[in-house]
Parts: sequence; C-alpha cells; structure tokens
Amino acid sequence: MEISGRVAIVTGAGAGLGAALASRLVAAGARVVLADLDGESAAALARTLGSSAVAVAGDMTDETVIRASIERAEADFGPVDLYFANAGVGGGGGEATTDQEWAATLEINVMAHVRAARLLVPGWLERGNGYFVSTASAAGLLTQLGSAPYSVSKHAAVGFAEWLSVTYGDRGIRVSCVCPMGVDTQLLYGDFASSRYPAEAELAMKAVTSAGPVLSPDRVAEVVLAGVADERFLILPHPEVSKMFQQKGSDYDRWLHGMRRFQASLLA
Ligand SMILES: NC(=O)c1ccc[n+]([C@@H]2O[C@H](COP(=O)([O-])OP(=O)(O)OC[C@H]3O[C@@H](n4cnc5c(N)ncnc54)[C@H](O)[C@@H]3O)[C@@H](O)[C@H]2O)c1
Repeated sequence: MEISGRVAIVTGAGAGLGAALASRLVAAGARVVLADLDGESAAALARTLGSSAVAVAGDMTDETVIRASIERAEADFGPVDLYFANAGVGGGGGEATTDQEWAATLEINVMAHVRAARLLVPGWLERGNGYFVSTASAAGLLTQLGSAPYSVSKHAAVGFAEWLSVTYGDRGIRVSCVCPMGVDTQLLYGDFASSRYPAEAELAMKAVTSAGPVLSPDRVAEVVLAGVADERFLILPHPEVSKMFQQKGSDYDRWLHGMRRFQASLLA
C-alpha cells in the first residue's frame, strides 16, 4: 500500500513505538490521528508534526473513544485507510495474577483490536479497501517468560489478526501483524519494573534483553512501514524470530525444552 495521502489512526501514539509510527507516517505523507490515554503527550507530538496530525485523548479500549477517533479522522482528513492497533501494556506475573489484572491486559492488548475492527470493517468492505495493523509481539508467536497475561494476550492478538486476514483478505482488507522482540520503550523498562510481581517481571525483562538486540522505536517503525508498503502479514523487526517460530512449529516439545533451559539460565 502506498502510504502517501492515506488517513491513519495510531493508538498509543503518545510514546514509544506508536509515537515513532505516527512520526514516520506523517513524514511519508499520511494524515494521522494520534490517540493515547496520555492526551498531553499525544497532543505535544501532534503539534510538532504540523497540520497532518491531530491528537485524541482517551482510553482506546472504550468503543465510544475509538468511535470518536474515527469521527475525528473523517472530519479532519477523510475516511480511515489504516488503523494501527498499537497501544498495549506489559508487566510480569503468572497464574497468580488477579482476574482484574488479566482483564486489564486483555482489554487493551486484544479487545481494543476487536472493537476497532467492529467499527471499521463495514466501511472498509463497502469501499473495498482498508488496512489493519496489529502490534502484537514475538511473545504472541513464541512466549514471554515471566508473564502469562502478556503471552496469552499477544497470542490472542496474533490470532485475531490472522482471523481478520483470512476472513476479509479477498474483499480488500489487508492485515499486518507486528511481532518484535525488545524495543527500547517505557513498556520494556517501566511496565515490567513497576509490576506487582517483581520476580516474574525481572525474568521477563532479562528474557527480552538477552534474547536479541533491543531496537529503537524508530527502527521498528521503519520496518513496520516497509512491511505495510509490501502488504506483508507477518512483520518481524527482529528477523531471528522467524527461525524461532519455525523451530517451535517443527518440534514443539524440543522448543519447550529449549525455553525451559533458557529460563533456568536466566534464573541461575
Ligand atoms: N517495548 C517492547 O519491547 C515491545 C516488544 C514487542 C511488542 N511491543 C508492543 O508494542 C506496543 C507499543 O508499546 P511500546 O513499547 O511503545 O510501549 P510504551 O509504553 O512506550 O507506549 C504505549 C503507549 O500506549 C498508551 N496506552 C496504554 N494503554 C492505553 C489505552 N488503554 N488507551 C490508549 N492508549 C494507551 C500509553 O499511554 C503509551 O503512550 C505494545 O502493544 C507492546 O505490547 C513492545
């Protein structure tokens, strides 16, 4: 897809990968709604991006806020061509994680994607054109040591992106699923550090930082936009994830054994 002239919404655009995606989209000639819980950060970035960017403040798990961001895009720029479901949360914790914490993680990492698709797909089918970009994680293809809610929610995000692509791919809706390992953001260094489950969170952070290079958000955004230009489903800013995913698929038990060994080495 040619990005120039398109209208995009990026959730979680106030910081990290979302901010980098919004900046690169504007630089590539798109007009962008930057949506974030932290409205001030999104507004501050939008101001630096000029007349091709506006900010919407609010919780992007809330259907009324998602609808407001779509309406804002339509009013200021025109119908939404691309939706980047990027906002997400991390944090450590296993099965002892409370139901409330599980629900909060699943809400933003998965249900926010479902609700956005619910609002956008009918118009995209009518126009025969639309692009949904899901920021999942390598944790959604492999696993996240030290965080069951993150692993499970990211697997669900991959599953939903896959399902959208299979269901609507022949009717003009394109889907990409972004699965990075470490990215140098607050989520990696802050969400896990402030987790209520410090031992698991430390394991999670160690796993991410020792599995491969921690990339800058700008580098990841560059790879994402190249993947969108090519209309590739699986976008892997860390190419080594492809091999790991193949190893998992070709011998699941061997892969599980290797992951236990990796975990033991990090705990030692
Ligand atoms: N950082 C990593 O190592 C890494 C690796 C793989 C995938 N990811 C994924 O990348 C995405 C972006 O994360 P990041 O690393 O840039 O994190 P970040 O914490 O730097 O940015 C996340 C942004 O999302 C916003 N946000 C959180 N909940 C929201 C909500 N309910 N509504 C609206 N905005 C909300 C936050 O305010 C923040 O501005 C996430 O989905 C994350 O899971 C990150």
